[in-house]
Amino acid sequence: MSRPRTTKVRDVVKELMQPLATRTPHPSRRPPAVDRIGAHTVKSLLSRFGSPLCVFDEDRLRLAYRNMLGAFRALWPKTRIAWSVKTNWLSSIAAVLRSEGALGEVVSGFEYGICRDLGIPGKDIIFNGPWKSDAELKQAFREEAWVNIDSHDELERVLKLANGLKKPAKIGLRVNVKLNYPPWDKFGFRVDESVTFEAARRITGHKKLILAGLHLHVGTYVPDVSIYRQGMEALVGLALRLEAELGCTIESLDMGGGYATRNTLRGVMLPGAATAPAYEDYALAVTAPLLAHEKRFKRPPTLTLEPGRGLIDEAAKFISTVLAVKRPEGSQQTAILDVGVHILPTAYWYEHEVSPVRDDGRPLGHWRLAGNLCMQIDVIREEVVLPELEPGDRLVIHDVGAYNFSQSMQFIQLRPNYVMIRGKEAHIIRRAEVPADARGPEMLPRHLVSEESRTSALLRPAD
Ligand SMILES: Cc1ncc(COP(=O)(O)O)c(C=O)c1O
Repeated sequence: MSRPRTTKVRDVVKELMQPLATRTPHPSRRPPAVDRIGAHTVKSLLSRFGSPLCVFDEDRLRLAYRNMLGAFRALWPKTRIAWSVKTNWLSSIAAVLRSEGALGEVVSGFEYGICRDLGIPGKDIIFNGPWKSDAELKQAFREEAWVNIDSHDELERVLKLANGLKKPAKIGLRVNVKLNYPPWDKFGFRVDESVTFEAARRITGHKKLILAGLHLHVGTYVPDVSIYRQGMEALVGLALRLEAELGCTIESLDMGGGYATRNTLRGVMLPGAATAPAYEDYALAVTAPLLAHEKRFKRPPTLTLEPGRGLIDEAAKFISTVLAVKRPEGSQQTAILDVGVHILPTAYWYEHEVSPVRDDGRPLGHWRLAGNLCMQIDVIREEVVLPELEPGDRLVIHDVGAYNFSQSMQFIQLRPNYVMIRGKEAHIIRRAEVPADARGPEMLPRHLVSEESRTSALLRPAD
């Protein structure tokens, strides 16, 4: 009776010992074809905007915002969301979220300017980050933006600058808590150190500053909701102590971002879709300490959230074209795509889901997907099961909205079109780059200008 079973196991082991190149994936691993994004066919988007193409879905972004806010407000009605601009600084994304009511969360003067250009008033901007210049701080105070102080050195500058303020400014203190490994401790003040309390005392002792908030960002892509609960417990503990001992009123407790998405981290066994908590799970964890101590606050504080990837990741896809196929004998077959890591840097840490655009029943295989850059590490997926690929085939790469545009670079290739769909409409929100976009700021020192150089607008001599 046991013979057939033994044979089967032996067959499976034999199969597993084969190099990937010669293995046949089980038919159940055939990925469904994706030939539409929202109301648009992939074909129509490509014929209008070319390949590669990054497609943002406005309706999905709005839905994500509403779902997240709804999940938190169901438990803590005084919740507000500030969009983490660095996650994707395209103005159209910030404009969509602003129209839903989001504040802007910025970490540089550059990002502050993006919000102001969209008409977001200072009072709806939260200014975080380890470095803010004096000029940026002055502008933020003048425009009543909310500044979270990151370090003792920054505090010293703020205490001096504040002397010149016409009216007192509300500010927050960023803190860090040792919760995860490696600890997210580059930013802010250690929550439990006496010097942190001293910093708070110096703020409350300044007649032009009002200590009105605490800020904590526990990390990025954090699927363990207990970290959020512990983080909020620490914030609540410090806030209550500050209210009791320094007489201040903590109006906002800011839990930052880090909410995981269904993307799968490289090297992690379970898919992100199975491990990413729902907004409701995060809401339960974050609000539990608030609800437990609600009555002890002078006034229940506003809960501020700063999601980045948790809002935008799943609202964007890349459409890509297979440029070439390589089948070296005995080793992994590879398809070269027109999407490289210069526009998809998250391929370094995510195993992005990839779908064929059509499936006419070709045999399945294990594929390595590489980008079009002349660089060995330009790999989008080390191994993915797809139907047989040929040059000209189209693929959809999912959940690419966070950090890809803002961390993209002009390395070897320029950036393509970025579009936003809204129902049946499709709008370019960033046109494909031309060489002048990349080379415009360059200058050629006079001694390098030769007879042959074309010192055109693109290569003008430096005076
Ligand atoms: C202060 C702050 N808020 C919000 C975010 C957004 O993080 P995420 O995109 O992981 O939600 C970050 C990113 O690291 C951050 O540093």
